Amino acid sequence: MLTPRELLTTTRSVRLRLDLERAVDRETVEECLRVGLQAPNGSNLQLWNWVLVDDPAVRARMAEIYRASIEDQQRMSAEAAAAGQPSRYPKTPQQERISRSVMHLRDHLHEVPVLVVPTIAGRMDGVSVFEQASLWGSVLPAVWNFMLALRAEGMGSAWTTIHLHREREMADLLGIPYERVTQAGLFPVAWTLGTDFRAADRSGAERAIRWNHW
Ligand SMILES: Cc1cc2nc3c(=O)[nH]c(=O)nc-3n(C[C@H](O)[C@H](O)[C@H](O)COP(=O)(O)O)c2cc1C
Repeated sequence: MLTPRELLTTTRSVRLRLDLERAVDRETVEECLRVGLQAPNGSNLQLWNWVLVDDPAVRARMAEIYRASIEDQQRMSAEAAAAGQPSRYPKTPQQERISRSVMHLRDHLHEVPVLVVPTIAGRMDGVSVFEQASLWGSVLPAVWNFMLALRAEGMGSAWTTIHLHREREMADLLGIPYERVTQAGLFPVAWTLGTDFRAADRSGAERAIRWNHW
């Protein structure tokens, strides 16, 4: 049994250690989602909807969209580099490891037993920062609660947003009303291969803490 601190510090983005062979039952995922739905959300309006996909044919199409979105991103990065813009990604061994892990998920996404797309009613396009923060803040805490609950059960996920380059394509596939509903990401769900995850080294993040003044 994980202590609260262990749970909060060892819930990682799991890609290489997703168990692609072991079936995931709907009831367990829904139970984790119920934990997610305890999260704060603006005025308690609960304007979220969650699309949980275990149909292999739909998962295969979602994985195609995901892969095409990574290609979109790679093309954009190459164009930015050609235009002389510095890369946001440092060339460190850690970034290389993340990149390999990201590509593993890209190559196996269709094999992940359940894919979850959380949504929030409303669109961010052209709205004020207040409205954007209120909308994102009304779904992302629930997503994180969901990921923590998965970890507590012995399952794992990885936060992903890359498919939002093709949000409309995903909306069309899943029947999400794109004009009035925003997708928050795509979360692969599987049992994990082992449960011994470690806290990340975020010691550098100490620099981000500022008391009384920026
Ligand atoms: C907003 C956001 C978007 C992300 N998008 C992706 C993604 O599209 N694909 C992916 O494989 N990982 C994605 N990640 C996972 C990050 O790469 C990961 O959180 C980071 O490397 C730190 O690892 P950790 O979550 O294990 O601490 C995303 C994470 C966040 C918070």
